[in-house]
Amino acid sequence: MKLTADQLREKYLSFFASKGHAIISGASLIPENDPTVLFTTAGMHPLVPYLLGEPHPSGRRLTDVQTCVRTGDIDAVGDTCHLTFFEMLGNWSLGEYFKKEAITWSFEFLTQELGFTADQLSVTVFEGEGDIPRDDESIDIWKSLGIPEERIYALPKSDNWWGPAGTSGPCGPDSEMFIDTGVDCCGEECRPGCHCGKYIEIWNDVFMQYNKTAEGKYEPLKQNNVDTGMGVERTICMMNGYETVYETELFAPLMLKIKELTTIQAENEEQHTRAKRIIADHMRTAVFILGDPKGGVKPGNMGANYVLRRLIRRSVRYAKMLGISTGYTGELAKLVIDNYKHVYPELETNRTTIVTELTAEESRFEKTLTSGQREFNKVATALVTHKQTTLSGRTAFKLYDTYGFPLEFTEELANEQGLAVDRAGYDKAFKKHQELSKQGANTFKGGLADNTVATTRLHTATHLLHKALQIVLGEHATQKGSNITTARLRFDFSHPAKMTPEEKQQVEDIVNEQIKRNLPVKVETMTIEEAKEKGATALFAAKYGEQVKVYTAGDFSMEVCGGPHAETTGELGGFKIKKEESSSAGVRRIKAIITNVN
Ligand code: SER
Repeated sequence: MKLTADQLREKYLSFFASKGHAIISGASLIPENDPTVLFTTAGMHPLVPYLLGEPHPSGRRLTDVQTCVRTGDIDAVGDTCHLTFFEMLGNWSLGEYFKKEAITWSFEFLTQELGFTADQLSVTVFEGEGDIPRDDESIDIWKSLGIPEERIYALPKSDNWWGPAGTSGPCGPDSEMFIDTGVDCCGEECRPGCHCGKYIEIWNDVFMQYNKTAEGKYEPLKQNNVDTGMGVERTICMMNGYETVYETELFAPLMLKIKELTTIQAENEEQHTRAKRIIADHMRTAVFILGDPKGGVKPGNMGANYVLRRLIRRSVRYAKMLGISTGYTGELAKLVIDNYKHVYPELETNRTTIVTELTAEESRFEKTLTSGQREFNKVATALVTHKQTTLSGRTAFKLYDTYGFPLEFTEELANEQGLAVDRAGYDKAFKKHQELSKQGANTFKGGLADNTVATTRLHTATHLLHKALQIVLGEHATQKGSNITTARLRFDFSHPAKMTPEEKQQVEDIVNEQIKRNLPVKVETMTIEEAKEKGATALFAAKYGEQVKVYTAGDFSMEVCGGPHAETTGELGGFKIKKEESSSAGVRRIKAIITNVN
């Protein structure tokens, strides 16, 4: 059956709605309040509190489409199906149905709605480890549905255990579904999970029964959950009989353009194909990160900003290899925006930011790429001539600091020459530089698990700050971005001018006043329409009729938000603005901390 991505999303949501699931909105790509990960990596991610037992406002059966960024597989990008950005279709049972329903519905959807035959399917289940036995229940369910034993593989934890998304949180054994592409096995060991291209994983049913604690222990959860995730790009690729995801309508216009822009004749066809795919993948990911409704991630040197920079710069390097001239990032970004804006209107809203930021980063890197590469070649040639195998941390740091080469980028260049990079040496040089410049030291303070109280309080402080800004500056001062670490909050908002010292003082005073009042922070569930009617600030488009959580701090602030928050404003102790600066045109940025906290 031929199907477009639009049709697939629609079919999936309707199918699970017909099985009693509430259709909810996907969350931002930038996780709120969770410093354990830089991006949303799966549909379950924004649902972690509910998988842990908190009631979800929309009920116990949910379905959605979630945009995800994963850079763990970045080295595999360029093959037929690995991507750094993808859309995940998901359905969840929060302590309601379990393996039987989940697997049966997966099978029903694949065969009856999408038209795959049982013969095309191979599945995997958890083979067991330690106290946790082999998942015979799932094996029996698959058999009862008509999947023969020889196409049901019991595999170890490395294959069939999912999560947690960060370092701690819900996780469990899973059962993955693969389409056999019909190509020959690459060898005797070839089986689902092998990357040769015979088996493409399109869906994963996770049975989330455990919570991994910060200490690494697996504790049974209060409830047995189901978390599933189906990849949009891979599924339509398989349905349309394409060999790679780049042939689907989600990539086709990009690939065409990249081909048009390429000016260097391929000596090595395979290498060129890989380069084109990497450019397409990385540009699409960069556009979604820059266009995220929550905003705030720009190319930079830390955390998510660094990942974005790495993606853009890596693409620039491959573009150079193909002889693609400067300015290509803007051209490709426009195609991505046009291709997706009917599903993700925020891309259209943020069109200017996306194109401007990409072009600026491209030209920043262009300025130093050639000289940096010359420096690298000089050192690498000397090392290879002297039969050395390691590039020093100091050189890697110089390439980073002077020429803007992300470490991983230098590693890639080095690997191509058969060299390794002394990472520890790089870290040492980096730390030394940091101490010297005293920059960004706080950003590395981290560890999360024992500090969630701090981030929770900063989250509440963000609501108070948002309201205070609107009181002092006017209603136009609305949120453009937010980011919280354990040490500080960062808040971007619309405002055309630098804040005066008096304005800053007033805002600080108002927030401190609300802290002193020790207001109760309460949460209520209602539809998005009710929330708006009550005057709640609602930042992100929720679907009509969707149930949302509304947090109030006494009579002072009311925002639609996922939480979690402090219980009272008094917990915050005190509030201090550390910095007010420009973030981008018409957007200001405040960094603030809470003080006097127990
Ligand atoms: N969380 C699981 C995955 O990402 C299922 O969605 O594969």
